[in-house]
Amino acid sequence: MDKLLIHGGSPLAGEVRISGAKNAALPIMCASLLSAAPLRLTNVPHLRDVTTLLNLLGGMGIAVSLDEKLGLELDAGRLHTPLAPYELVKTMRASILVLGPLLARCGEARVSLPGGCAIGQRPVDLHIKGLQAMGADIRVEHGYIIARAERLKGARIASDLVTVTGTENLMMAACLGEGTTVIENAAREPEVVDLAACLKAMGANIEGAGSGMIRIEGVSALSGAEHRIMPDRIETGTFLVAAAATGGSVRLRNTSARILEAVLDKLREAGAKITAEDDAIVLEMDGPPTSVNLRTAPYPAFPTDMQAQFMALDCIARGTAVLTETIFENRFMHALELQRLGADIEISGNTAVVKGVAQLDGATVMATDLRASASLVIAGLVAKGETVVERIYHLDRGYECIEEKLSQLGARIKRIH
Ligand code: UD1
Repeated sequence: MDKLLIHGGSPLAGEVRISGAKNAALPIMCASLLSAAPLRLTNVPHLRDVTTLLNLLGGMGIAVSLDEKLGLELDAGRLHTPLAPYELVKTMRASILVLGPLLARCGEARVSLPGGCAIGQRPVDLHIKGLQAMGADIRVEHGYIIARAERLKGARIASDLVTVTGTENLMMAACLGEGTTVIENAAREPEVVDLAACLKAMGANIEGAGSGMIRIEGVSALSGAEHRIMPDRIETGTFLVAAAATGGSVRLRNTSARILEAVLDKLREAGAKITAEDDAIVLEMDGPPTSVNLRTAPYPAFPTDMQAQFMALDCIARGTAVLTETIFENRFMHALELQRLGADIEISGNTAVVKGVAQLDGATVMATDLRASASLVIAGLVAKGETVVERIYHLDRGYECIEEKLSQLGARIKRIH
């Protein structure tokens, strides 16, 4: 299994290109299932989750091709098997995103339940309830969601919880439904807006994406389209936090300040100077960071996917920080590993109190999930001496060439096979 070897202590400096967003690419690739004509995508990140989804779509009969500019074409003209098997779904929960499109296009779908996840229970009941409200007949048998519907019907769907992939699944399904669907308390994440933009380019009738209420007027068929995937705001945030924690200065290209305002506010609070350009962000840090408190919540508030990285920054910041996680119940596993590097963290329920220490010391640590891995890499970059991060297959799910990009910024980091 691959590991990362990091010699900490050098401030990050220089320029790096941000990749397309994993969490936009995955739902948008699933949108290809809705049409018999090809969907052409650019700025698709080269990630393990993307490969997993390509395997899943390939098994259903979707033809996948890459053009000379690495544009990805997905052609679901010969979609023959509306099935998502356990072997693939268990490695990537986002596979549930095929459920809505398959049901809408084929009238049936068999999708394995994603099962537990390291960061909490993460059920899919809201996806199922929403589709049932649209007239689907759904049962769960032998670990599979078995769904049928002649043609989905427009419905008003409301839930107390905001769910990102749930909103995306229902929005995609409603595109081919009969009549009007209204999703109340919809997720407002920029990735939902990017998916809606792609669906509209395919001929869908959608209003309100990016607000708490999305209205979809069903159409009988969708066409092909071309779409460029938005930049990855979590990758952007991760590199900015790494630069701030190491006291560096970086310019990130192919990204936008507009998609991560809450994260930029926290970085300013930590002492970073941030300049937003048209399609780039510049961060300059002078001296050690100041502790920042944070509380995760659905967009536009502070994202849960950035909590672990800020915890690493708070470990070496001046002062004491209180971090509250409100989205996932078990998302502090990185804290135990950070403690192995000398961090002072106390966890009580969904709150972590982090007292900044003058220095972290390198050690061997183990990555437990995607964003936890990123926090350990950041801690390794600031720690004195050598840090080994084990089980980095989690990182490869969501960060494109992370060690190459960090090396480009002057980090001493290498992958050991
Ligand atoms: C998406 C992101 C993930 C991010 C998360 C929260 C993708 C592919 N993944 O995950 O990176 O961390 O949003 O911003 O976009 N819930 C239910 N029932 C459901 C669905 C969700 O109870 O049917 C709960 C979850 O357990 C969780 C909360 O709702 O506590 C939010 O989860 P959700 O927004 O659905 O996360 P994902 O869409 O899986």
